[in-house]
Amino acid sequence: MDQNQTPLLTALKQAAETPGAAFYTPGHRRGQGIPESLAAVFGSQVFRADLPELPELDNLFAPEGVIKQAQELAAAAFGGDLCRFLVNGSTVGIIASILATCDPEDKILLPRNIHKSVISGLVISGARAIFINPEYDQDWHLPLSLTPKAIAQALDEHPDIKAVMVVYPTYHGICGNLAAIATIVHNYNIPLLVDEAHGGHFHFHQQLPPSALQCGADLTVQSTHKVLGAMNQASMVQIKGDRINLTRLDNALQMLQTTSPSYLLLASLDAARHQMVNQGQKRLTEALELAQRAKTQLENLPGLRVYHPPVTAGCVALDPTRLTVKVSDCGLSGYEADTILHQQFRVTAELPDLEHLTMIISPANSQGDIDQMIKGFAFLSQQAVSGELENSPTLNQQDWQMIDTISAFATPIAEVSAMSVRDAFFAKTISLPTPDCPGKISAECVCPYPPGVPILWPGEAISKKAIAFLQQVQALGGEITGCSDNTLATLRVIEH
Ligand SMILES: Cc1ncc(COP(=O)(O)O)c(C=O)c1O
Repeated sequence: MDQNQTPLLTALKQAAETPGAAFYTPGHRRGQGIPESLAAVFGSQVFRADLPELPELDNLFAPEGVIKQAQELAAAAFGGDLCRFLVNGSTVGIIASILATCDPEDKILLPRNIHKSVISGLVISGARAIFINPEYDQDWHLPLSLTPKAIAQALDEHPDIKAVMVVYPTYHGICGNLAAIATIVHNYNIPLLVDEAHGGHFHFHQQLPPSALQCGADLTVQSTHKVLGAMNQASMVQIKGDRINLTRLDNALQMLQTTSPSYLLLASLDAARHQMVNQGQKRLTEALELAQRAKTQLENLPGLRVYHPPVTAGCVALDPTRLTVKVSDCGLSGYEADTILHQQFRVTAELPDLEHLTMIISPANSQGDIDQMIKGFAFLSQQAVSGELENSPTLNQQDWQMIDTISAFATPIAEVSAMSVRDAFFAKTISLPTPDCPGKISAECVCPYPPGVPILWPGEAISKKAIAFLQQVQALGGEITGCSDNTLATLRVIEH
């Protein structure tokens, strides 16, 4: 296969450059009708390539030409047998992978802190979630990954589970022992589905953790747009082996994706693959060097710490291009540090939380970006040392002990919840004052940060203990997310 080709991008370029009288969608007619205000921001060239399924541009849902070739090249480049391009992010790939592997009422094993797209997957498929908790780093108060042992136990308790989905790597770059997990899952002859939204670059450098496919995943969903050079939303599903029902997967993707997929997004996948195959090694080497230099400099700044996770059953590697910096020792929350960095230094993190900031260093970052980041962090450090920061109260050891009891609050391992996520979605729901909610069934996902692991999933019974826990996290300055009322005055429950 000639990885120097870009069949889809090349065909799109030719089509964009070929004049003609257009009587098809989109209505802007190759940019002739776009508002001037839009052209002033985007330029006009891009609209010439904003084309529909012209005969020479193939069809995403019945590919026989340039899209088929581009997907084949991508499969070979990322180590899969087959690839499907996505125009609605990994979100749509995750939903489709559940639909491809689970019938209504089938059980699927999931980490409790799985991405929220899984809620949609469970509602649409009717599959029953069996949740298990990830391991947890009590020093840094961050969720790690599922352990192979916990997965083996859950499969032992529920041998009728039809698929297992894990996150690899996590948002913070933490990688569990995926090869061991794959072996366990395959002993049951069921598929291992991987949310590899943050790991599209792994395949292209030996200093990065192995990719999900290298570890034995049957299907992996990657947000090519998150770390690599594709446009926002552009993602891929890679499939290896024969445990995935391809007809179901394709039907699901056709059902869930727009019938007018953007060729700008699709061609950006072709170009991102080409770029990684041809320059990935070099560009990632540079990114790794930048990340290493940044870590060294940050570690020399008083009051700041850089995350090096423990090696445990739930964490065997860290993506070295993910940088999590603890700022709470400076007397600042991650949210406060984020505001200062953004407003005063135009340095913007991917993910702030109560204690940390997580930055993604991609192959597109420059030494200038790193210098700017270090300047911002040096300011925080210097202000903290000189006592000039208005210290916000930070959590004491006791507070953290309370938050770290997360595992005691979440659903016990591998329990089936009171109602399926799907039934909870279609049931009549009502908002009740939170003190009246114990004994009711939650209609929503309620996830406190920290620890970033949902305390309630839709369909789960609400306990007094869970409410007390959420209220305590909130009182300590944590954030409650996922629910309709994040003040926690009310919760949405199933009406009886
Ligand atoms: C772990 C994880 N999985 C899946 C997704 C969804 O990816 P996308 O934005 O490409 O739909 C995200 C998005 O942030 C994510 O963090």
